[in-house]
Amino acid sequence: MKIESLLIHGGIDGDEKTGAVSVPIYQTSTYKQEALGKNSGYEYSRTGNPTREALEKLIADLEGGYRGFAFASGLAAISAALMLFKSGDKIIVSSNVYGGTFRVIDKIFKNFNLNYKLVDTSDLKKVEESITEDVKAIFIETPTNPLMTITDISKISEIAKKNKVLTIVDNTFMTPYLQKPIKLGADIVLHSATKYLGGHSDLIAGLLVVNNEELGERIHFIQNSTGGILNPFDSWLLIRGIKTLSVRMDRHNENAEYVANFLQENSLIDKIYYPGFPTHPGYQLHKSQASGYGAIISFVLKEGIDINKFFKGLKLITLGESLGGVESLISHPATMTHAAVPYEIRQKIGIVDNLIRLSVGLENKEDLVEDLKNALEFAK
Ligand SMILES: Cc1ncc(COP(=O)(O)O)c(C=O)c1O
Repeated sequence: MKIESLLIHGGIDGDEKTGAVSVPIYQTSTYKQEALGKNSGYEYSRTGNPTREALEKLIADLEGGYRGFAFASGLAAISAALMLFKSGDKIIVSSNVYGGTFRVIDKIFKNFNLNYKLVDTSDLKKVEESITEDVKAIFIETPTNPLMTITDISKISEIAKKNKVLTIVDNTFMTPYLQKPIKLGADIVLHSATKYLGGHSDLIAGLLVVNNEELGERIHFIQNSTGGILNPFDSWLLIRGIKTLSVRMDRHNENAEYVANFLQENSLIDKIYYPGFPTHPGYQLHKSQASGYGAIISFVLKEGIDINKFFKGLKLITLGESLGGVESLISHPATMTHAAVPYEIRQKIGIVDNLIRLSVGLENKEDLVEDLKNALEFAK
């Protein structure tokens, strides 16, 4: 089955019992047991719920993995993956991962002596040089949030396999419609499903897919033991969102390309980060491992442009956290998504104070450009 069909019919399709074409919402915490030790396969909804299971099977199919898991947020999924490791282990992390990922690693897991090293994973030599005895995983984001740095998933997976460590990929920006890390050798793929997979800015969810049974057993144990599961209604909403992913992503790609071209030609923009430009250092690599450029564009305003006035001048595009919804959202990484990253690290990796991240939505592309043009004029 091709992905457009899989998005609609993957996982558990509809309801066998009644013929309902939409998976029912099993809004239940527990299940009646026939006798001691005799049950329907479900005992308690933290351990398993049919609606969540339909979603978990769907994301496993979409990513081409062995088993999927749904969590209450992207960060709950990331935390579950980090719980695979133990005190004294170390993980290599892409140097400009999402600020919340950095925060949970730096402020929580480090307290349990899970060590980390931030590495520019687009530089394979640096990754190889960073592998020591205690390294147990390489955690990458490609493209990274917000600077759109591209990392070679196949090559990182090769390095990881050679050193018997896991490759974990945050695939939030691309979704399985555009990029399939497990097919490129990764062991674990995760998502903030809050973003493109949900697609409508109406839920918070995380998904995780593993490539083998052993990892599946371990993640299920962690999911059940620590309890960060996605509830039945949001599982259903997410299944519903995923059905239209292909049409949404096609339009996201088209709108973003149009907006990126406008920004690139505008004299008030100093720098633009968009992997769809041949001048982007990761352009060829990204093209070889993904089938689209996505709809996140980051850009730096020229010195002297009033950033507050720019945000105020926008009438259609909404200032807000998050991305990947039908509506265009704009944010200021230094004070919003990446505020948890210390100032010195932000400066070093390029998250400067006049950097802006735009998530291009599904509005009319000419309306979007008009809005940006007016706000830039207002701010100069
Ligand atoms: C790339 C990426 N990964 C993970 C997360 C965290 O996901 P959530 O907000 O669903 O917990 C985000 C949130 O913005 C993100 O952008």
